[in-house]
Amino acid sequence: MARAGILLLLGFCGLAAAAQNYSSLQPPAYTITLSFNISGTEYNPLPCVDLTNRACLPQASTCVSVPNGDSVIIRWEGPAGAAGNTLSLMTCFSNSSAVDRPWRKANAVISKDKKCNVEKPFKQGLPTGSGSYVWTPGANTPPAIYNIQLLEVQANSDPTNYTAMGRSVGFFQIQPINSTPSWLLAMVGVFSCIGPLTLAGFFTWEKVIKKD
Ligand SMILES: *[C@@H]1O[C@H](CO)[C@@H](O)[C@H](O)[C@H]1NC(C)=O
Ligand SMILES: *[C@@H]1O[C@H](CO)[C@@H](O)[C@H](O)[C@H]1NC(C)=O
Ligand SMILES: *[C@@H]1O[C@H](CO)[C@@H](O)[C@H](O)[C@H]1NC(C)=O
Ligand SMILES: *[C@@H]1O[C@H](CO)[C@@H](O)[C@H](O)[C@H]1NC(C)=O
Repeated sequence: MARAGILLLLGFCGLAAAAQNYSSLQPPAYTITLSFNISGTEYNPLPCVDLTNRACLPQASTCVSVPNGDSVIIRWEGPAGAAGNTLSLMTCFSNSSAVDRPWRKANAVISKDKKCNVEKPFKQGLPTGSGSYVWTPGANTPPAIYNIQLLEVQANSDPTNYTAMGRSVGFFQIQPINSTPSWLLAMVGVFSCIGPLTLAGFFTWEKVIKKD
């Protein structure tokens, strides 16, 4: 009895949630191209193929530095869409940046896709059709290799209903913020006699401030 009830409930919830998957948006209606503003110069690199981490590294022009204020220039082209529809932009982790990390796992159900940060778009409410957006990653963007996904959000849809998508072919890398501040290194050197205290400070910096 109870089991049948639970099954019924599950069935009902499944219907109610109407989990929309990516296959409903194939082929992608939007094309996305990326270029990069690295230290004030715009680069249009060849798409970086996501084979391994290393494959992206030699291309300096696809290494986006957060401390330098570098940015990703995203251009898209697609259909005008129904009135009131808007576009959301989000980052997708590359295969190499998602491997062995269940919290970045891909899911065919769009709303559950953690590989593409569907729950955390970095920009929402953009008009449909053609356009561009300059995204400057912040300190809370994990250093990783990414591409960009676009989703067209249907106006007044509850739960969120997507009507079109696009994904950049090119990948880019957000460089790790690797530099220990020089004042901290100096402190470690000069005050090595009060080692434990400095060490505690360093570990605090490593663990609390310099979080990935
Ligand atoms: C995606 O949705 C379509 C249509 O609703 C369905 O036929 C297909 O089996 C679903 N695929 C997955 C992987 O859930
Ligand atoms: C690149 O970014 C700098 C600021 O970091 C800005 O002054 C410049 O206009 C940008 N150039 C392009 C081509 O977007
Ligand atoms: C990433 O992995 C998926 C699933 O294994 C695969 O279909 C896709 O081609 C891979 N992407 C790249 C760019 O290698
Ligand atoms: C989602 O969009 C499709 C196609 O426009 C429509 O048939 C469906 O009713 C919509 N669902 C929701 C929950 O708005």
